Amino acid sequence: MSATPLMSATPFSTRIVCIGAGYVGGPTMAVIALKCPDICIHVYDLSVPRINAWNSASLPIYEPGLDEVIQQVRGRNLFFTTDDSVITQADIIFISVNTPTKMYGVGKGRAADLKYIESCSRRIGELVSHGHKIVVEKSTVPVRCSVAVRKILSANSKGTATFSILSNPEFLAEGTAVSDLMRPDRVLIGGDQDAKGLDSIRRLASIYERWVPADRIVTTNLWSSELTKLVANAMLAQRISSINSISAVCEATGADVDEVARGVGADTRIGPKFLKASVGFGGSCFQKDVLNLVYLCESLQLTEVAEYWHWVVRMNDYQRRRFCEKIIKTMFDTASGKTIAVFGFAFKKDTGDTRESSAIEVVASLLEEGANVHIHDPKVSFDQVKTDLEMRIDDPRVRQLIYTNVTMSPTAEEAANGAHAIAILTEWDLYKTLNYEAIYSTMSKPAFFFDGRSMVDPKVLRAIGFDTYCIGKATQHPAQFFYETS
Ligand code: UDX
Repeated sequence: MSATPLMSATPFSTRIVCIGAGYVGGPTMAVIALKCPDICIHVYDLSVPRINAWNSASLPIYEPGLDEVIQQVRGRNLFFTTDDSVITQADIIFISVNTPTKMYGVGKGRAADLKYIESCSRRIGELVSHGHKIVVEKSTVPVRCSVAVRKILSANSKGTATFSILSNPEFLAEGTAVSDLMRPDRVLIGGDQDAKGLDSIRRLASIYERWVPADRIVTTNLWSSELTKLVANAMLAQRISSINSISAVCEATGADVDEVARGVGADTRIGPKFLKASVGFGGSCFQKDVLNLVYLCESLQLTEVAEYWHWVVRMNDYQRRRFCEKIIKTMFDTASGKTIAVFGFAFKKDTGDTRESSAIEVVASLLEEGANVHIHDPKVSFDQVKTDLEMRIDDPRVRQLIYTNVTMSPTAEEAANGAHAIAILTEWDLYKTLNYEAIYSTMSKPAFFFDGRSMVDPKVLRAIGFDTYCIGKATQHPAQFFYETS
């Protein structure tokens, strides 16, 4: 069966093409297809293996509930294809391609790299020769990116085609993508405020209105929408950096960061979410978007504003560094030749994604110290771990250790067997309920425990015999601590 039947042969009311079959494009289009059986959706991607995977029984991404949705809609009104000619017949074209941080030239390390946005805008311009198309920026983009998209489209379009540009950023989080899409806090649509722009906004809003309450559909001008997405991620990252900064204060004073977060989050103006101290945030968005905001502010000569937001990322780096230093210092200033069992490599639980995971930084630091690392993660493959470490480590001496000092264990118990220390880096639920008494008995003594997610009660671990450090909690008993330091 062809994955891409001729669109003109179908009786659909609207035709959508999404360029980019990634974490955002795939699930978003699957849910639109589910809720709108009268809309025909093609998800197009250059990558043949990726499209083949979307057309197979083993999807290229893991998301709870996604398999079920795909089974209902694939071949009905959702199709995955590498044939970009589908673009010509679409009424609405979503651009959902990567916008990684630029790693070269002007804006290196901060600005978003728009080369994929640019190349697909160029391709849309080349392919579409007539009619009116709504082009929707789904990728997170720098403010005023739509100006570039519009310019490229009109410069490359040879016929009579006209375009409306909308911004419709996606707020889904990995691991909860399907439920976030089914019940979004809000759908944001930005567009030009002239008649054509408002009409296009209405048209896109009418699709979401099939399952999202109208009061959750927020419409704005283009720039507000583009900026809102960056600010939403920056403020979420800022909350984590704020509580992580306080975790250092807690460790130094004997306060408990979880108790502080509970007390602070009980204020309805602040709220309880995103106040969990950790070894640092990861994921494909937070660092990239904050740096993107920093770059925007710098470009606008808003130096103080740029500095303010830059500290969100610096605090995250500090938190990771602090955790690694704690491990080394506690283990008598050297991890050389010692074995550390690393529990969790993904950037958060319930995903196999390792992008910007703090675990990459921690394992790289441990290798720099000459440690052996036994990793367990329920969803991450050894190949992925090696690729991440190869990308991260430049020093050839340390790179070599990726192949000699790192192993992947099928269970957490096996990773800890004979190890000198355990470090929890990802908050997988299973690490809460392991039999740590049994694990302790298999480890080298003294056995150390470094809880980077504040998951296991340090009192219980100490009673077992572990020398325990838990992020945001005093290492010693508070009374003893004050006595020693006053
Ligand atoms: C994030 C945003 O939540 C989402 O709206 C946006 O569209 C994409 O970026 P995601 O990267 O999937 O989503 O993960 P998220 O759940 O936000 O977690 C990001 C990182 O912060 C993870 O490493 C997580 O472990 C960490 N985190 C989160 C904490 O350390 N503490 C918290 O309290 C919450």
